[in-house]
Amino acid sequence: MSESQKIDSLLREERRFPPSPEFQKNAIAGADLYEQAGADRLGFWATQSRELLHWHKPFTEVLDWSNPPFAKWFADGHLNVSYNCLDRHVLEGRGDRVALHFEGEPGDTRSLTYAELTAEVKKAANLLTSLGLGQGDRVIIYMPLIPEAIIAMLAVARLGAIHSVVFGGFSAESLRARIDDAQASMVITADGGHRKGSVFALKTAVDQALEDGATSVEKVLVVQRGGNDVDWVQGRDLWWHEEMAPMVADHEAKPFEAENPLFILYTSGTTGKPKGILHTSGGYLTQAAFTHKNVFDLHPETDVYWCTADIGWITGHSYVVYGPLANGATQVIYEGTPDTPHPGRWWEIIEKYKVTIFYTAPTAIRTFMKLGREIPQKFDLSSLRVLGTVGEPINPEAWIWYREVIGGNTTPIVDTWWQTETGAIMISALPGVTTTKPGSAQVPLPGVSIDVLTEDGQQVGPEGGGLLVITEPWPSMLRGIWGDDERFKETYWSMFGDRYFAGDGAHLDKDNDVWLLGRVDDVMNISGHRLSTMEIESALVAHPMTAEAAVVGASDDTTGQAVVAFVILKSRFVGTLSDEEVTAQLRDWVAQQIGAIAKPRTVFVVAELPKTRSGKIMRRLLRDIAEGREVGDTTTLTDTSVIRVISDGLK
Ligand code: PRX
Repeated sequence: MSESQKIDSLLREERRFPPSPEFQKNAIAGADLYEQAGADRLGFWATQSRELLHWHKPFTEVLDWSNPPFAKWFADGHLNVSYNCLDRHVLEGRGDRVALHFEGEPGDTRSLTYAELTAEVKKAANLLTSLGLGQGDRVIIYMPLIPEAIIAMLAVARLGAIHSVVFGGFSAESLRARIDDAQASMVITADGGHRKGSVFALKTAVDQALEDGATSVEKVLVVQRGGNDVDWVQGRDLWWHEEMAPMVADHEAKPFEAENPLFILYTSGTTGKPKGILHTSGGYLTQAAFTHKNVFDLHPETDVYWCTADIGWITGHSYVVYGPLANGATQVIYEGTPDTPHPGRWWEIIEKYKVTIFYTAPTAIRTFMKLGREIPQKFDLSSLRVLGTVGEPINPEAWIWYREVIGGNTTPIVDTWWQTETGAIMISALPGVTTTKPGSAQVPLPGVSIDVLTEDGQQVGPEGGGLLVITEPWPSMLRGIWGDDERFKETYWSMFGDRYFAGDGAHLDKDNDVWLLGRVDDVMNISGHRLSTMEIESALVAHPMTAEAAVVGASDDTTGQAVVAFVILKSRFVGTLSDEEVTAQLRDWVAQQIGAIAKPRTVFVVAELPKTRSGKIMRRLLRDIAEGREVGDTTTLTDTSVIRVISDGLK
């Protein structure tokens, strides 16, 4: 199917799901939120921030946009993010409420109340202080999803230091690049974690990353989790449990300025080098808390919330750590994969903890669809009352399956559009308010202003397609790219001046609801994870065998997109290995250079690549080939026979 046919069939989706009167009776969000925000956008955010957060020193300014695109929100206010997620709940009598129900992949469990979590974070803050960590210092966190990962994040935040969580699936090389870019003085890791029934090593990757000794890292704190053997560098490496043992659970959270940096999170861009997206404190926490409460209809006294994201991604930051904890929610965290030890593990967890709000990715839903409804139907999922999706467009078929099979045909579904850069949800239905449409992310949240424009900046209006932009600054917006102001301006603000260009294509329907169409740049979205074509191409050409490489994201029924690589081998390697052997070697190589998530699904060994006269690879044509379509317009190609050569070679 061509792109335009796909959009047409999407827009023919006419099923509608209005909120039920029962749901509306107790709904957190009401239509009045849109009215308040519409009447006074900045006043609305100020009110939300005051209501949702504790400010040690109240702010008097809301937004300073005098130096675009560098925004300041609530700039003269002071707060402590960790205090907001912990201490105040205990001080206000909620200490006995469970904050985290941890479920380990091997089946071990542990629940921590807000009082217990607060005590652990205080001890960890004392430990980090004793190791010399202070405001503004950078700490890399490279861990499985266990309570200590969250404790580490909150302890770093408590000191006004900056964490950068690196997803445990990234390789030593990727880890090193992030350590160097952030100039981190400390790494917090684990010996290993549990995944797919076995232990994967993390400390080993840290050792490899720091092998040459020429790094900013002075200390490596190691949590014992996997039980696997580890090497030890005396003077650098410390066991978390040994260091934590003598620490006292008494630590005063000092307030910091609202714009104090909170974290850097690396994400792929259109060049080979990942971008360190910088988020700060007051605005970020305001919008994370606001969206978590209203989009998921959170009733913190009774709900059990579960977001399946790893803390290595932005969803884990905003909707596992900061949003839910700021709101005093009770949540489940799960270390492992959905299918270990059996394909019903997720549904078993929902039944066990009586999860009421569930937030996951379309890829996961499509995978479960393929496995069949008999698996979830073996479990009691009747506790669920709100379902959410994130990370990629959800096709109406998967949306309906999610509602029927997981949601018992009653739950509202919120399809939430946002990005690492936006920090929090920007476009989504509000349960109890919005009549939902399967496949559409629908409307900007109260206080958020968006538009869809043509390439020359004209509004497309209802029933038009174009580029998604955010037209006004928002509290949780990125404050920059770490150490690279120029790249920040160039990437997001050069296209339409003071409007933020998101990199996504979007279509508006006749009601002005937004239907996301995927990335319009060289960024791919694989299982809801962002990968850069350039980054994988750089990895491929770094292999001694490869002369040239081009990577495209081809549509994939389950993962949304899949990485497909076209490589030209150096002449001395041509014919020395079979295509299967080349593929296997290059897949392993990419896993080693970037991480297993970046492994190409398919590698095509070709003799030539289609290029424009200026030498740019025509990825559009390669995508046509990768998806088995008739190849589109080739008029700008230097040599039109190339496509025939490639296509014929692949038959
Ligand atoms: O293309 C959009 C897609 O994911 C991109 C952001 O990726 P990342 O920064 O890794 O954050 C993912 C989790 C927030 C976006 O540019 N995307 C995210 N949510 C949706 C989506 N595409 C369609 N529908 C969504 N709900």
